[in-house]
Amino acid sequence: MGFTIISFTLCLATWCNQAIASSFGNDDWTNAAKKAREFTSQLTIEEKIAFTYGNATAGAGCIGVIPPIPRLNFTGVCMSDGPNAVNRAEFVTVFPSGITAAATWDRNLIYQRAHALGEEARGKGTKVLLGPAVGPMGRHGLGGRNWEGFGPDPFLAGEATAATVRGIQDNGVQTSSKHYILNEQETQRSNSTTEDGSPVDAISSNADDRTIHELYLWPFTNAVKAGTTSIMCSYNRVNQTYACENPYLLKEILRDELGFAGYVVSDWFATHSGAKAINAGLEVEMPGYIPPSDYPGASFFFKDGLTKGLEDGSVTEERLNEMVQHIMTPYFLLKQDSPDFPSPDPSSSLILLANDVGLLSMIDSGVLPQPGQFPRGRDVRGNHATVVREVAAAGTVLLKNTNQTLPLRSPKVIGVFGNDAFEPPNGLVVQDFDRISFGSNIGNAFIGGGSGTGRATSIVTPLEAIRTKAKEIGSEVQYIATNELLAAGNFKSIYPLPDLCIVFQKTFASEGSDRTSWELDNNSTAAIKNVAKLCENTVIVTHSGGVVTLPWADEPKIGAILVAHYPGEQSGNSIVDILWGDVNPSGRLPYTIPIKGDDSGPPIVNLTEPLNDQGAWQADFSEGQLIDYRHYDAMNITPRYEFGFGLSYTSFELGNGGEVEAKSLGNNSLSAKPNPDVKVEVGGHPELWEDVAVVTSHVSNTGKVAGHTVPQLYVSFPSSTPRGAPLRVLRGFERVYLAAGQTVEVSFRLKRRDVSYWDSDTKAWVIPEGDFTFRVGFSSRDFRGQVNLKLR
Ligand SMILES: *[C@@H]1O[C@H](CO)[C@@H](O)[C@H](O)[C@H]1NC(C)=O
Ligand SMILES: *[C@@H]1O[C@H](CO)[C@@H](O)[C@H](O)[C@H]1NC(C)=O
Ligand SMILES: *[C@@H]1O[C@H](CO)[C@@H](O)[C@H](O)[C@H]1NC(C)=O
Ligand SMILES: *[C@@H]1O[C@H](CO)[C@@H](O)[C@H](O)[C@H]1NC(C)=O
Ligand SMILES: *[C@@H]1O[C@H](CO)[C@@H](O)[C@H](O)[C@H]1NC(C)=O
Ligand SMILES: *[C@@H]1O[C@H](CO)[C@@H](O)[C@H](O)[C@H]1NC(C)=O
Ligand SMILES: *[C@@H]1O[C@H](CO)[C@@H](O)[C@H](O)[C@H]1NC(C)=O
Ligand SMILES: *[C@@H]1O[C@H](CO)[C@@H](O)[C@H](O)[C@H]1NC(C)=O
Ligand SMILES: *[C@@H]1O[C@H](CO)[C@@H](O)[C@H](O)[C@H]1NC(C)=O
Repeated sequence: MGFTIISFTLCLATWCNQAIASSFGNDDWTNAAKKAREFTSQLTIEEKIAFTYGNATAGAGCIGVIPPIPRLNFTGVCMSDGPNAVNRAEFVTVFPSGITAAATWDRNLIYQRAHALGEEARGKGTKVLLGPAVGPMGRHGLGGRNWEGFGPDPFLAGEATAATVRGIQDNGVQTSSKHYILNEQETQRSNSTTEDGSPVDAISSNADDRTIHELYLWPFTNAVKAGTTSIMCSYNRVNQTYACENPYLLKEILRDELGFAGYVVSDWFATHSGAKAINAGLEVEMPGYIPPSDYPGASFFFKDGLTKGLEDGSVTEERLNEMVQHIMTPYFLLKQDSPDFPSPDPSSSLILLANDVGLLSMIDSGVLPQPGQFPRGRDVRGNHATVVREVAAAGTVLLKNTNQTLPLRSPKVIGVFGNDAFEPPNGLVVQDFDRISFGSNIGNAFIGGGSGTGRATSIVTPLEAIRTKAKEIGSEVQYIATNELLAAGNFKSIYPLPDLCIVFQKTFASEGSDRTSWELDNNSTAAIKNVAKLCENTVIVTHSGGVVTLPWADEPKIGAILVAHYPGEQSGNSIVDILWGDVNPSGRLPYTIPIKGDDSGPPIVNLTEPLNDQGAWQADFSEGQLIDYRHYDAMNITPRYEFGFGLSYTSFELGNGGEVEAKSLGNNSLSAKPNPDVKVEVGGHPELWEDVAVVTSHVSNTGKVAGHTVPQLYVSFPSSTPRGAPLRVLRGFERVYLAAGQTVEVSFRLKRRDVSYWDSDTKAWVIPEGDFTFRVGFSSRDFRGQVNLKLR
């Protein structure tokens, strides 16, 4: 049951551009906007107002609903979570998480994952899939939602975001790129109330304009350029103003600078005002009305805000028209008015409820059908298990492989150890926001919790896949599941000594809370050390949503370490593909692993004093752009494994003696700024997306087997650049497939934005004067060649 590596031709310039470019041009947007205007002109004021907030009465199992208007053949808008699966639905696929996709460093695989996900959304009648998660990026390694997105480097995240937006929307399904913006921690992400009833605001993320542009806004810009039809504003405040009522973010940046032509929707319960938010640029309040109206937290602002606001003049009818047009433009852009668009799957409304309150409460409240009369869901999975397996294997990072421990050959007795190797005991659904199933001791962490999770129909656990493989090769498998026994060193059930031990350990992560420990969960360190004491030949596999420290990494008997992220429902198969070498590992870390947690940068803000000050929660992003590898570089801290790092079963070098060539496409005399007379289009100033330089080098497979590698381009800006620029930034990567002995040319095309800094004073991207240094290598610290070039 080998898994074929699809031989992949080099990402040539034309193809790479496709991954970035929208499937829609400005004319498509303009035509769709015209249809939206005509549509809006046929609505009554009440109908228009009803467009601006959710109304779950029209239900059908969607987490957000804009009700239909049959008179106009408008079929309504169904919004569903989320970025890794169509959540709260059955017979769907649970895909590898965002961070797993990012770890492939492969635009094509990221696109395929998104395309399959979008196909399932369409099959379920979802018009808007709430994703991709573009932030949090991972300012903090312990961020509870880091696994949903594409990691802390804006260039990698930007490429992944663009490929994901295109992949989903090529099915005619809208994306809602979220969470806009600076939603970097879950702790106090929303407002709260103290015991004595006084209000406490959500955390305020305070960042300067340049940091916003060059780091946190960067991937959102790619999302807009790729045609994302909606942006979801986040729970937190930015500079003391809630993100969902912040005119600088919603108007100046999104509309004026990025040319965004879709609509802004609030995160669920993230709206804090009517007229204020409406005039600041928010178009849709979610979830809006939830029957019965005493549903906890079901305050909603837009209905009254608009009804009263039109009367007292605090909102204009022009603004209301604009809101509806922005909401309807994507509907026409993606041809969602077509009768071919499936209606919402009827089973989903029961599943939504079952997920939330459980079947027993549904019996008590009389809403449960008789056995045999449950509507069953449409099976939309197709052959997506293949995509899951390939992406998960490609997103698995080999960090250590001494004495050729991997790939495995035919160990006679295999020991499988650890709580992460096994079937979760309480079913395959991460119960919303709690840790009942997956945070409990036993259970494979194939995905995280919260809105980004999914209801798996079945999963393949590591133990199951290893057993299948063992049968094929005539090996025996023995196991211990509980970390308690391993941590206590109790191996009484094991005889003889295994030839090979594989330890599976995990971290649980979920929306709603941040992680509190850098190590893998449940006494993992003691468990791992004891297995390594027992076994001459130990392989460690981690399933986690991001940064975990590996304090046992240097133990000599630990021969190999694989970081498998959250792999989705083909968890076991994808890791077996790597362990036995059917797939040569090529994943690269999309973040940095420190030696100890304290090395990693600013801690999550967590106030422990009783708070009477409403505005007390403040996160000052005073490190600017220096997060993840940029922080380690600037502070001269040696990490354990750096951003961009990952091993293979073969070896690679830069060909031609490490020669790197760089060529300006602008005759070394580019203008400092884009031409101010050219109009902004969807995605911002068009000249920012023009290629201005090309860097070329050669990559060789110097080992004995074929495999993929990921040459990476890091750019150092000239010394004339204003203070605050990181020492080096990623600005190019290509995942290439090479037969043993083969050499290929790789070229990285740099766009104007890639070689510009954001000048806050003139609000413009500027190419600095002087020498840029272009370094090419295999990680953020492993450079094999470099060259200097002036661009102006
Ligand atoms: C929600 O939708 C239902 C059915 O379409 C409608 O009767 C009700 O008035 C709506 N509620 C609000 C608050 O708009
Ligand atoms: C609604 O669809 C029907 C059937 O396709 C069509 O006859 C009718 O003209 C449409 N109405 C509007 C307002 O577009
Ligand atoms: C958060 O703020 C909103 C709007 O100001 C308010 O309606 C809501 O009750 C607050 N939530 C909590 C938990 O305090
Ligand atoms: C936040 O405040 C800083 C400092 O005044 C400013 O540079 C930045 O532009 C502000 N950002 C937003 C989103 O308002
Ligand atoms: C395992 O770790 C998770 C996450 O820290 C925790 O929620 C859970 O309670 C732990 N389980 C046991 C059995 O200690
Ligand atoms: C972790 O260790 C503590 C203290 O030894 C013990 O009480 C606890 O049960 C252990 N938890 C797990 C999941 O092994
Ligand atoms: C924040 O503090 C609370 C109370 O001390 C604690 O329970 C929680 O784990 C902390 N959260 C983080 C992310 O450190
Ligand atoms: C790997 O090789 C090193 C050096 O040759 C040796 O010290 C170490 O014990 C070996 N480890 C294993 C797991 O065989
Ligand atoms: C390139 O620059 C040189 C020197 O400034 C100039 O002589 C030449 O005409 C330019 N070539 C092009 C194609 O613009």
